[in-house]
Amino acid sequence: MTEPSLQTTAEAYDAVAVLYAEFARDAFDAFPLDRAVLAAFAELVRTTGSGTVAELGCGPGQTTAHLRDLGLDVFGVDLSPVMIELAREAYPDLRFEHGSMDALDLADGALHGIVSWYSIIHTPPRDLPSYFAEFRRVLAPGGHLLLAFFESEGGPLTTFDHKVTTAYRWPIDDLAELAGEAGFTEIGRMLREPGEGERYRRGHLLMRLAGVTGANE
Ligand SMILES: C[S@@+](CC[C@H](N)C(=O)[O-])C[C@H]1O[C@@H](n2cnc3c(N)ncnc32)[C@H](O)[C@@H]1O
Repeated sequence: MTEPSLQTTAEAYDAVAVLYAEFARDAFDAFPLDRAVLAAFAELVRTTGSGTVAELGCGPGQTTAHLRDLGLDVFGVDLSPVMIELAREAYPDLRFEHGSMDALDLADGALHGIVSWYSIIHTPPRDLPSYFAEFRRVLAPGGHLLLAFFESEGGPLTTFDHKVTTAYRWPIDDLAELAGEAGFTEIGRMLREPGEGERYRRGHLLMRLAGVTGANE
């Protein structure tokens, strides 16, 4: 399968944005474990100080809004201009910016937390170290990172024909190791088996940048 470039990914999400937004609006209702992992992230962020959180690859913004409802000061960034337009329309009280998460318009240490909720799934594996380096640059010491992705269920790293554009399924240990090489320490992980209408196991990694140790970890 061809590796998706940033332009391919942006155009592919632009094309499906309206449909995606409809499908994603109530995405968390059926998945208490997804809500639990987001709630754990939010609690860790809230109890280790105050600061801004970014949802990188926010799509139409429903995860950003969920994080806001969990008490976080959060904004979203996405590669797809149409997704950003839809997010701004749906959640006018929140900030959404167009951009790529490997080159953020943010000062060093500007963020207290980062959520990448199924947004690194199209990133060619050899590019991921530079993404994680950018996450490390913009996070303050002790900042938290939450990754959600498709897990490879015991198999190797593999591509699959995701409905929007080619995507990757990662062995959770390999992704944890790669993020570890960028300076992130694992706090915990959650694997969820596919629900109705879903194809693959879901992986979640909750990590912290070296610096300050969280009180409730
Ligand atoms: C599967 S969607 C997930 C959207 C959202 N996080 C959610 O919870 O529904 C993946 C999103 O990541 C965005 N994305 C992919 N690569 C990106 C990049 N390098 N920088 C910013 N956004 C990116 C896509 O445009 C798309 O909106």
